[in-house]
Amino acid sequence: MSIVVNGITKIFGTQTAVNNVSFSAKPGEIVGFLGPNGAGKSTTMKMLCCYLEPSSGTAEVEGFDILKNPLEVRKNIGYLPEQNPLYDDMYVREYLGFVAGLHKIKNPDKRIDEVIQTTGLEKEQHKIIGTLSKGYKQRVGLAQAIIHDPKVLILDEPTSGLDMNQLVGIRQLIREMGKEKTVIFSSHIMQEIQALCHRVLIINDGVLIADDSIADLQARVSGQTKVVVVFSNDQYSKDPFVAVPGVISVQKEGDRLTILGKDDADIKPGIFKAAVDSGLTIVEMKSELMNMESIFRQLTQKQEI
Ligand SMILES: Nc1ncnc2c1ncn2[C@@H]1O[C@H](COP(=O)(O)OP(=O)(O)O)[C@@H](O)[C@H]1O
Ligand SMILES: [Mg+2]
Repeated sequence: MSIVVNGITKIFGTQTAVNNVSFSAKPGEIVGFLGPNGAGKSTTMKMLCCYLEPSSGTAEVEGFDILKNPLEVRKNIGYLPEQNPLYDDMYVREYLGFVAGLHKIKNPDKRIDEVIQTTGLEKEQHKIIGTLSKGYKQRVGLAQAIIHDPKVLILDEPTSGLDMNQLVGIRQLIREMGKEKTVIFSSHIMQEIQALCHRVLIINDGVLIADDSIADLQARVSGQTKVVVVFSNDQYSKDPFVAVPGVISVQKEGDRLTILGKDDADIKPGIFKAAVDSGLTIVEMKSELMNMESIFRQLTQKQEI
């Protein structure tokens, strides 16, 4: 394993931004880190890169502990922060030379040529960073992240703000890099994670709520049905609905029940019968097939029972 995270927690004042998160990742794996804004993605990544100290718990990168060996950890990590802080008035080549110097890279010109080629910056290499489009700035950000050939890449929302063409280019680059390196890539967009990653970690309110392969997650949700039933009042128990054959979970929010069930066992007649047996009046009943987007919404919704 090249990343092992063990019960990492970060508390800001009274807020637990990251709550006892554990996961691991291995080389050749692109792990998607998915969650709504404020979920704790950037905070987790900053702790892995030794920019923030955890309140408790720890992590290892390539066998080095982030608390005991931060210098070794940083040597093994290429980090593209969320805001991609670049020096706008520097030339692309000059900036990469500066970063190569920080990493004490031997023969920097050769290495700069290599990363310029890898990230497709040949035409832009003599331009001032401030004049580049957002897509090319992201390429410069990626170039600085890989210049010391790290085994692990931590990319914080690298595609946000890019147009379709730029997005395709950056995704292709990440895909290439993921063949050898361990890549953790954050996004709040489900489809993007689906397109790029082998595995997905879903974080919400600082808590890791899913750690699955894309295939398993898809298998888990495919063929599931979500039925929403609205009753004439909120004075009822959800228990008879939990007992309906084929029902997986039931969530009650006032006069509204959200019921998840297996697709093949059509659960609607059972739900209808349970309502009649309980003397309840159904005002509305609708169902939808679960897709990746709806499982994400369901997983990241606040549980109200
Ligand atoms: N330095 C900080 N001080 C106080 N609160 C912070 C700080 N950094 C992040 N937070 C809070 O921690 C939570 C998680 O933030 P963040 O990790 O940036 O989420 P994400 O990257 O998933 O959008 C947010 O509620 C944010 O306001
Ligand atoms: Mg963030």
